[in-house]
Amino acid sequence: PGTIGILTAGGDCPGLNAVIRGVAKAAMHYGLRVIGIQDGFRGLVENRFVELDNRMVSGILTQGGTLLGSSRDKPHKMPMGNKVMNMTQVTVDNYHALNLDCLVCLGGNGTAKNAYRLHQQGGINVMVLPKTIDNDVAETDITFGFDSAMGIATEAIDRLHTTATSHHRIIVCEIMGHDAGWLCLGAGIAGGADVILIPEIPYNLDAVARSLLVRQHSGKRFSIIAVAEGIRSVQEVAAAASSVPRKRRDKDKEVVHQAVDGVHLVQEATASRVAREIQQRTGVEARVTSLGHVQRGGPPSAFDRLLCTRLGTMAGHLLAHRKYNVMVGVKGTDCVPVPLGKVAGIKRTVPRDHDWIKTARLVATCLGDEES
Ligand code: F6P
Repeated sequence: PGTIGILTAGGDCPGLNAVIRGVAKAAMHYGLRVIGIQDGFRGLVENRFVELDNRMVSGILTQGGTLLGSSRDKPHKMPMGNKVMNMTQVTVDNYHALNLDCLVCLGGNGTAKNAYRLHQQGGINVMVLPKTIDNDVAETDITFGFDSAMGIATEAIDRLHTTATSHHRIIVCEIMGHDAGWLCLGAGIAGGADVILIPEIPYNLDAVARSLLVRQHSGKRFSIIAVAEGIRSVQEVAAAASSVPRKRRDKDKEVVHQAVDGVHLVQEATASRVAREIQQRTGVEARVTSLGHVQRGGPPSAFDRLLCTRLGTMAGHLLAHRKYNVMVGVKGTDCVPVPLGKVAGIKRTVPRDHDWIKTARLVATCLGDEES
């Protein structure tokens, strides 16, 4: 009845293997052949793939990472040797050489865009399943991987509480999420952070310091500040809106990713700056913890295992019925196909009137603005 290819692209997250298993088992149930493409779109360009059978997708439900490997390579802009080349046609040719009826891409925003571009420019069938710890994909209530990462970040905040309490310190905890605040806000509320700073609400350190001093004066001698990696201060937002050239603004900012001997070190730039300035303003000793890629590692949560299996099997069902060029999203309690054109290129950040923001304010969490 047909053959499908499956690949995992972009940053990994817990649950990728669970989705591969769900798609493959359901597809095989319907009699489809399943080819696993290695290392994202690069594997299709370089013809690196493996046939997935029942044995290969068995026992992987609980495993973190992706058995197929992942990369951030885009077909239309792929580093090849010392050149960056448009490999769209090669990707399309290899899709046909494998006799694929559809290419199932497990990925986030970037992957949805790349898959849709392949469909539009190369005429091939694609399907996307929404993966990312950032939870920032349009047309789905949740992405897989988010719940697991939120659990890890929440546990980290719990652990930081006990040491912050013992030493009467402020601890700033930097949480991933790219330009969206979902992970930081969710984990911050679940972990009971006293201050939560997210990219959607430009922060004002005077407002943050004021709320921390109120805590101090009420007898609470420690505080936890959850900081999303993409936060911007009111001053930075104003500079961005003004005529300050982008190059100069970037130079003024501290470096976040620095390559040393080809190794990317994630600097704790933003979180360190927040900690330093808050220590100066409050007189309370501050420390910084950057959770980094720990948030993307390890086994998926029970919620994600269930979600991944539901998304994967729904994808298998749709593939068997030749329903292509969709993303399988979550709407309420259902897994539903959404036209890919409605997803590609659109980021879902936290709306300012979102229930989680109201919730945080009602438990007196400072969100870094004047309303706090
Ligand atoms: O999109 C997932 C994510 O973990 C973001 O939260 C983060 O900004 C980025 O990937 C880190 O990317 P890399 O793994 O390439 O350092």
